[in-house]
Amino acid sequence: MNNMQQEKLPRHLAIIMDGNGRWARERMLRRIVGHQKGVETVRGIVDECSRLGIGFLTLYAFSAENWLRPKTEVKALMTLLKKYIKAETPRMMNDNVRFNIIGNRDDLPADVNRAIDEAIARTTGNSGMVLTLALSYGARQEIVRAARLLSADLAAGRVTDGEIGEGLFAGYLYTAGIPEPDFLIRTSGEMRISNFLLWQLAYTELYFSEVNWPDFTVPELHKALRDYQARERRFGRTSDQLQKRS
Ligand code: IPE
Ligand code: IPE
Ligand code: MG
Repeated sequence: MNNMQQEKLPRHLAIIMDGNGRWARERMLRRIVGHQKGVETVRGIVDECSRLGIGFLTLYAFSAENWLRPKTEVKALMTLLKKYIKAETPRMMNDNVRFNIIGNRDDLPADVNRAIDEAIARTTGNSGMVLTLALSYGARQEIVRAARLLSADLAAGRVTDGEIGEGLFAGYLYTAGIPEPDFLIRTSGEMRISNFLLWQLAYTELYFSEVNWPDFTVPELHKALRDYQARERRFGRTSDQLQKRS
């Protein structure tokens, strides 16, 4: 197989796939060529995560703020997304991958939504890795939406004041039912969260790679995962406390 130690792999890996544009620019290519190359990287990384037995892989593909990009780039990205989803569904079936989306689907073009619905419906019975694409996703928007849904349930008497806690609130997020990410990778050297999973990342281990997303190969993934495996997650406790428990 390879030199990846199977124990202590993250159950949920989240990735901010950044640097497609710079990858293209460095090669005097159009930004969209960088996005196309980025899709190839997605294929390789999804395959490898599924093969390694990672339970949940969440990829930040298009942020709520990315709608502010030039119309031509947004359009090209939407076309690319639709193509990716359609082309990858057979592979997801083959790898037992379940497809999922988080984000504001109301803003997505109808044809993209149709492709999403189809992929979700076809893969819904799969029991392997859950592949979640964050599309038109913003964490603040997600939290406000959750507050709105919760207040509607309160007003209707479906929930009482006393029941409100972290667990209940998390159930109103797009990620309901998905464990919090154990490990977050961001590529291209940027060290920021860019409105990704703000609630869910509270205790996630962070990793920043200098490599642009189109160049983020399987060996780069393994390097990141080995880094994760060497970390001690303390969740507020002391190191001694953790040693005693294990
Ligand atoms: C990430 O690459 C892909 C998306 C945000 C859709 P970018 O397009 O952000 O690439 P850079 O950051 O401009 O290099
Ligand atoms: C974050 O990348 C969103 C995605 C990777 C989809 P951006 O390139 O949009 O992030 P900022 O705006 O530079 O922080
Ligand atoms: Mg970027």
